Amino acid sequence: MGDDDVELEARLAEQDVFEPPSAFAEQANVADEAIYEEFEENWPDCWTGAADLLQWDREYDTVLDDSNPPFYEWFTGGELNASANCLDRHLDDRGDEAAIEWIGEPVDEDDRTYTYAELHREVNEFAAALRDLGVGADDVVTLYMPMVPELPIAMLACARIGAPHSVVFAGFSAEALATRMNAADSEYLVTCDGYYRRGDPLDHLRKANEGLDAVEHPVSDVVVVDRLGPNGDDFGHDLGEGQHDYDDLVAAHAGADVEPVARDAEDMLFLMYTSGTTGQPKGVKHTTGGYLAWAAWTSQAVLDIEPEDTYFCSADIGWITGHSYIVYGPLALGTTTMMYEGTPDHPDRDRLWQIVEEYEATQLYTAPTAIRAFMKWGTEYPDRHDLSSLRLLGTVGEPINPRAWKWYYRHIGNEECPIVDTWWQTETGGMMVTTLPGIKSMKPGSAGPPLPGVDVQIVDTNGDEVEAGRAGYLTVQKPWPGMLRTLYDNDERYVEEYWAEYSDTDSDDPDDWVYFPEDGAKIDEDGYITVLGRVDDVINVSGHRLGTMEIESAIVGVEGVAEAAVVGGDHPVKGEAVYAYVITEDGYDGDDEMRDRIVAGVEDAIGPIARPQQVIFTPELPKTRSGKIMRRLLEDIANGDALGDTSTLRNPEIVEEIRASVQD
Ligand code: WT7
Repeated sequence: MGDDDVELEARLAEQDVFEPPSAFAEQANVADEAIYEEFEENWPDCWTGAADLLQWDREYDTVLDDSNPPFYEWFTGGELNASANCLDRHLDDRGDEAAIEWIGEPVDEDDRTYTYAELHREVNEFAAALRDLGVGADDVVTLYMPMVPELPIAMLACARIGAPHSVVFAGFSAEALATRMNAADSEYLVTCDGYYRRGDPLDHLRKANEGLDAVEHPVSDVVVVDRLGPNGDDFGHDLGEGQHDYDDLVAAHAGADVEPVARDAEDMLFLMYTSGTTGQPKGVKHTTGGYLAWAAWTSQAVLDIEPEDTYFCSADIGWITGHSYIVYGPLALGTTTMMYEGTPDHPDRDRLWQIVEEYEATQLYTAPTAIRAFMKWGTEYPDRHDLSSLRLLGTVGEPINPRAWKWYYRHIGNEECPIVDTWWQTETGGMMVTTLPGIKSMKPGSAGPPLPGVDVQIVDTNGDEVEAGRAGYLTVQKPWPGMLRTLYDNDERYVEEYWAEYSDTDSDDPDDWVYFPEDGAKIDEDGYITVLGRVDDVINVSGHRLGTMEIESAIVGVEGVAEAAVVGGDHPVKGEAVYAYVITEDGYDGDDEMRDRIVAGVEDAIGPIARPQQVIFTPELPKTRSGKIMRRLLEDIANGDALGDTSTLRNPEIVEEIRASVQD
């Protein structure tokens, strides 16, 4: 580092407010601060502008139907098709422009560009194939696929024929796949032979087949994408009965046209399973009108997407970020969206920067965990590349620490790109709290104010607003178009999980209903919100949400385990890491063999992302007199922090004993 750099770093370290770079502000999609006031005065009609970004087959009658809270309905009476919105209507202007730039992991080997016309063609052909297999409107199609172009194609093909999709992250285990197919009564699966991870082909179909064996109802058809070609021969896969090769199906429907099915605005577009406080994942239901309007509007207002952009989000489509901000939002706006199959460190730690340079990416939307890893690897990797095509940077998934924020701002954005730190959830469908990049100053570490028209308050346990600077609970006081509608087949749990805490659940006045996302937060004098993290038994590992109960039940399923408690401990790169405290049954030792079986048990039940960082064997767990496990204390132990109050413990002596057995 030269002297200038040292000076610069010192200045950055002290600066805690950053103004939008003027070159950016001059061209921003949202350029007028008045939007905040206008939306407040004009609520809920302020959302007609979001709906206007879409093409409707039938105009809606009402913006918001709030007659039966919390079962809100948006754009009621309207009809539209998501695939027509993402494809057909762009054909005239953008038919020959790239819709998807797909980058495979092997460098320069098999990158693929799909123009809007090409994407439209293949989506039609695959939609025709699905229909021929018997998929009808409202049949849930499960997509257990890695980052291959056939994943967004399958999503849009489902949307075209009115079949909701349920994408299961490819890193999830066979068992996790079966749980989700069972919960959604899904009879169709689209999957893949394998994909590349750090240079090697990885078998995916074996896991899919294992999962299928555990599905409790008959599965009608399975479609398998051949990603690996001859490189997958070693896996020895033969397609079984009811299994079809994707390319064969598409070829058999070459030239087919499928009329997009007009869907009611409130019809389900997709289900996305996410972790909650119980062992059973929640099937979050998103709709066609409200969700799509939200994804499109936030993509335009926050990510500043224009059709001419080449926009890059490094998330996986298996999570909500990829649904909203690789597929639906960007394609609804007719832009070029990028997809990368591999990891950022293959073949070298500059892979992402090489991709940004090669494709001249205009926006980059990634996760704090990735930024912290880049920071650890050092500036030499981004410094090898020309990143000047970038106009805006974004982060999502977990709080970003100011140091990582400033590193991103300086070394990736060259101090010329605003950063949007976007707070939202699977359930919110899209962004809720973040700065509008052309008009709002940025405060590293704070996500920013709520978006215009979004009513967020930080409250205490009684639901009263807390003073600036005090910690409280983040709540959303008014509905919004992108909100989840309910949990699949479980209205009761929907009310219980998200609304019961701060609402008068007997009331039918929408003012008495408050959405609680289970995050802690504080707010400053300027209304900027700093999200502090989950307040429920959900932990956030590398921006991925994991339920401690799910991991615990996996561990308790391992032979020789009597009891387990799982908490999140701080981790410098991942944000949080899984710490598992385990009591063995009599006759079993807490040895390496046992530890390996526990780790394998978690990987089998959920996937490698849930792998415990540490398994700590203990003779007892710290419990209150009423028998409740004191998780806070276990977190303190994991973090090596001073212990909180232990006076309510039934067994205070156990804490020191556990602490002694935690080593780094
Ligand atoms: C949880 C939602 C949103 C898509 C990816 C994760 C945490 C998310 C931020 C942020 C602080 C954040 C919250 C939230 N979170 N974004 N910018 N700052 N925390 O979706 O799996 O549904 O997880 O992620 O705790 O509740 P998800």
